Amino acid sequence: MQFDKLKKNVSLAALDYIPSNAIIGFGSGSTIIYFIEALYKSKKKILGAVSSSHYTTIILHKYGIPVFALGAICDPIIYIDSADEINHNLEMIKGGGGALTNEKIISSIAEKFICIVHESKLVKQLGQFPLPIEIIPMAYTYVLKKIVQLGGTPKYREGYVTDHGNIIIDVYNLNLSCPVFIEQKINSIPGVVTVGLFTKNKADMVLIGTKSGIQILK
Ligand code: 5RP
Repeated sequence: MQFDKLKKNVSLAALDYIPSNAIIGFGSGSTIIYFIEALYKSKKKILGAVSSSHYTTIILHKYGIPVFALGAICDPIIYIDSADEINHNLEMIKGGGGALTNEKIISSIAEKFICIVHESKLVKQLGQFPLPIEIIPMAYTYVLKKIVQLGGTPKYREGYVTDHGNIIIDVYNLNLSCPVFIEQKINSIPGVVTVGLFTKNKADMVLIGTKSGIQILK
């Protein structure tokens, strides 16, 4: 079965976990676009949205969903997003779409984080997918040096500027057998805005679209 079909299936399944009349935080990427479409077609009414990227905001507006600034929200938020890789401990690599900073902020504020992925995203150990890091441009050379010292091979993401005006490097070959440690290490490098490792901001629940149905991990 095609990955797109699995993304659509898992998006439909996730509707059961979205309460009506709630504020929903939306991640970014193709799976979330499918989810927004499924939500619209289901006619389920939510109070509104908090968006993790400019592009997600455009899609939410297209479907008539009001988007609020994060700071204007007092109600609890349910956050729904996908991932580039997720392990059985529900730790993730995110940021393939470049929205990692806002995704980390919203997921840390949310009362519940529901992650929706298709089966190829579930891995035994994180690290096949290059790890995205958002960086303040003037720190580029310094951060690169530090990442190489950690054993990684950084690659500048050509032609990409984040919603915050920063750059992204994608890091290959990092040993992520202890993702908590690496997240802390990279977070402590001056100039790093966000690393796309989500070990503290883990999902509370993961819905996985597989060829034989929906698998749930908690
Ligand atoms: C964006 C992300 C996305 O969740 C991740 O890249 C998955 O994207 P897709 O749903 O297109 O596979 O972290 O920053």
